[in-house]
Amino acid sequence: MHNYLEQIKETASFLVNEGFEKPVVGIVLGTGLSELVSHIQIERNVAYETIPNFPLSTVEFHKGNLVYGKIGGVAVVAMQGRFHYYEGYSMQQITFPIRVMKAIGVKHLLLSNAAGGINMGYKKGDLVLLDDHINLQPENPLRGLNLPEFGSRFPDMSEPYNKGLNDLIRQKAKERNLPLHAGVYASVVGPNLETRAEYRYIKSIGADLVGMSTVPEVIVANQVGLPCACVSVITDECDPDNLKPVDISEIIAVAGKADKKLSELFAAVIAELS
Ligand code: HPA
Repeated sequence: MHNYLEQIKETASFLVNEGFEKPVVGIVLGTGLSELVSHIQIERNVAYETIPNFPLSTVEFHKGNLVYGKIGGVAVVAMQGRFHYYEGYSMQQITFPIRVMKAIGVKHLLLSNAAGGINMGYKKGDLVLLDDHINLQPENPLRGLNLPEFGSRFPDMSEPYNKGLNDLIRQKAKERNLPLHAGVYASVVGPNLETRAEYRYIKSIGADLVGMSTVPEVIVANQVGLPCACVSVITDECDPDNLKPVDISEIIAVAGKADKKLSELFAAVIAELS
């Protein structure tokens, strides 16, 4: 873990030397969601492979880039592509970028993801603001020796998604007449989608949507005191009584269609942050 701390510091200095200067907002872009990058006046764009200690790319991540620039005058650092537990990384590896963001001065974290709709009020392409989550992944990024520099051994999770950020996101959605649900996200490992019985189970425990990411990052953001918020795009409707086969290409296509409205919403929110 001392080594992990050294790695965080080393990667942070590398990025600062590369010109990632005082980013205010950190952004993690989910599967099929990268249009926000077109709102950034890009100043730096570094491939994950060239960043020391960043997890090594898997096939899925040939497009992994860390982008630095401004949105509405606000300095941002955006992860174009995230790491998932199902790829075989450890929880510490997939959350490493969050600790690095904190170390280079990020003050707010915005995440996005593609998710399955468990709540039958949600339709494909809808946006959902997370107001809570249920961790169904079998591992935890905070497991192991906890150095004081990492934050509390037992972080509070009474408000995992920051109320101030969520209020701002809701306000910006309203100004744009953009429908935005609120819901509870259940995180599973994947990479398979769920069975009908699993969707019934996930619904019964109080979740509105399900996906394979985000929760580890949010746990770490809470430990390091980084206020965060997440907007999900519903890519498939998980109705156990009428379940149709879904293909990942379809999930990516639906996410791609909703990408524009999500990116405009995030850009409007970011312009208000400091
Ligand atoms: N289940 C899990 N993850 C997902 C889904 C789903 O139905 N849709 C998009 N990501």
